[in-house]
Amino acid sequence: MSPELSFRRALSQFATGVAVITARGATGEAVGMTMSSFNSVSLDPPLVLFSVDRRALSLPAMRDAAGYAVNILSRQQEALSNQFAKALGDKWRDVAHSLGHAEAPLIEGALAHFECEPYAQHDGGDHVIFVGRVVRFSAREGESPLVFFRGKYCALAEAGQREPTWPLPIHY
Ligand SMILES: Cc1cc2nc3c(=O)[nH]c(=O)nc-3n(C[C@H](O)[C@H](O)[C@H](O)COP(=O)(O)O)c2cc1C
Repeated sequence: MSPELSFRRALSQFATGVAVITARGATGEAVGMTMSSFNSVSLDPPLVLFSVDRRALSLPAMRDAAGYAVNILSRQQEALSNQFAKALGDKWRDVAHSLGHAEAPLIEGALAHFECEPYAQHDGGDHVIFVGRVVRFSAREGESPLVFFRGKYCALAEAGQREPTWPLPIHY
């Protein structure tokens, strides 16, 4: 196995949720990309991050956008995850949405929406790391997330959920 493939395999042991991150480019076109690299960064100020492949066609629009929306996908939205992962596909076909901050699309049925303004962009090797400042958010309780693990979609087993114990009152 090549060193790159074994690195990717090792990284895929980290289970994540799946988000579609959307924005409106400077010329008004809506862009959206499926991403597992979303994460929380800071509570004060409220910051989140995600990283975009430098080869992504949506990158120029994301870089110029006046804001983005993070749409956290539910278990029922696997088809949307696939739709927004295909470059040059018709990503917006039959996607019910409204418009949020900076006219970034908010996808209906998402578990949570985080509407962000650009805060920072950093070099991340073959990716660009975007840090967004959350200006508005909403969340829906009681539905399961779409989970990505070892290159496959998964669902959470409810029976396996237990409260962790922490020495410090951190936000996780
Ligand atoms: C589960 C999953 C997670 C992904 N995570 C990322 C990511 O974090 N960053 C990224 O740049 N691409 C990620 N991709 C790939 C992009 O979704 C895909 O390359 C992109 O939508 C192509 O968009 P384009 O039209 O801008 O080229 C992921 C794909 C899937 C299926």
